[in-house]
Amino acid sequence: MSALLEVEDLRVRFRTIGSLRARIRGVEDPFIDAVCGVSFSIREGETLGLVGESGSGKSTIARALIGLNPVADGSIRFDGREIAGLGERQYGALRREMSMMWQDPVGSLSPRLTVRSLVTEPFRIHGVKGRDLDEEASRLLTMVGLGPDFASRFPHQLSGGQARRVGVARALALDPKLVIADEPTAGLDVSVQAEVLNLLGDLQRRLGVAILVITHNLNVVRHITDRMAIMYLGRFVEQGPTEDVFFHPRHPYTEALLSANPEPDPDAAKERIEISGEVPSLLDRPKGCEFHTRCLYAQDDCRRVAPGVTRESETHRYTCHHPLSE
Ligand SMILES: Nc1ncnc2c1ncn2[C@@H]1O[C@H](COP(=O)(O)OP(=O)(O)O)[C@@H](O)[C@H]1O
Ligand code: SF4
Ligand SMILES: [Mg+2]
Repeated sequence: MSALLEVEDLRVRFRTIGSLRARIRGVEDPFIDAVCGVSFSIREGETLGLVGESGSGKSTIARALIGLNPVADGSIRFDGREIAGLGERQYGALRREMSMMWQDPVGSLSPRLTVRSLVTEPFRIHGVKGRDLDEEASRLLTMVGLGPDFASRFPHQLSGGQARRVGVARALALDPKLVIADEPTAGLDVSVQAEVLNLLGDLQRRLGVAILVITHNLNVVRHITDRMAIMYLGRFVEQGPTEDVFFHPRHPYTEALLSANPEPDPDAAKERIEISGEVPSLLDRPKGCEFHTRCLYAQDDCRRVAPGVTRESETHRYTCHHPLSE
């Protein structure tokens, strides 16, 4: 399988204050690096999970991929073509191939549109002519397990899980090659979360679409991803095949995330390792290893020297001076 998406050294910076105010206040570098030098790839039909606490830069990556955030540096190749820095017009066409499922796919849309209009809106946005929209709506609603009767409903008549299904239908309407799902289960009850994830997993297998799933909960992605990447302060601290990362985490942050979200399984009475301390500010990144202020295993060298990338295998990598043992 060839790489559908290849991201190399992606950097996204945001200005913190205007240039005039920065000059007045003597601020030399009025920027934060929300994403600093992230590399990953997604093959056709593959599912990658992107995990990290709130503020780690996950949505910033997603928005950069679809051209909504400026790319300060690095490259984004999609389907063999460089897309970083393309203009809005070219991106418009690309969003057919690379579609986004937002956190609250229905709540952010007009409450006066019917479900039929919501799921067929991508056809109108992209000027796709010659399709029977009633048929398309039925097809899409059946595909996500709601059925054609839902077409005449309004958003306020949908449960949380049904609304997410409508979001999935919209994201898949134009048969994209990649779906980016940003926190697809946020705010849902645990049982409904599983339903939505199973649906995404099912459709991924049936349609062969690649999916980038973003979440702050590691366990959310365990069953539906092939590989996963763990993010901290805008960098990947570990990435690898999902099973490896779950069963043989090497980075202390991965271990802490895993134990902070234990699976609802009474037999898995794992010791709980809390992630103590506050997430540092991007304006004042810790020296050395940026996780040292919260790491249970930090030693002197961690406070001085930033760890480089260690390749545990062809696919499993991490950045830590004192990785957890097998
Ligand atoms: N448009 C923006 N302007 C300035 N700062 C931003 C912008 N978007 C995101 N950020 C900052 O970038 C960091 C990463 O945010 P985000 O990608 O939303 O994190 P996550 O999705 O992992 O919770 C945060 O500190 C956030 O405040
Ligand atoms: S390099 Fe040191 S501080 Fe950083 S994660 Fe590894 S052990 Fe912890
Ligand atoms: Mg986010």
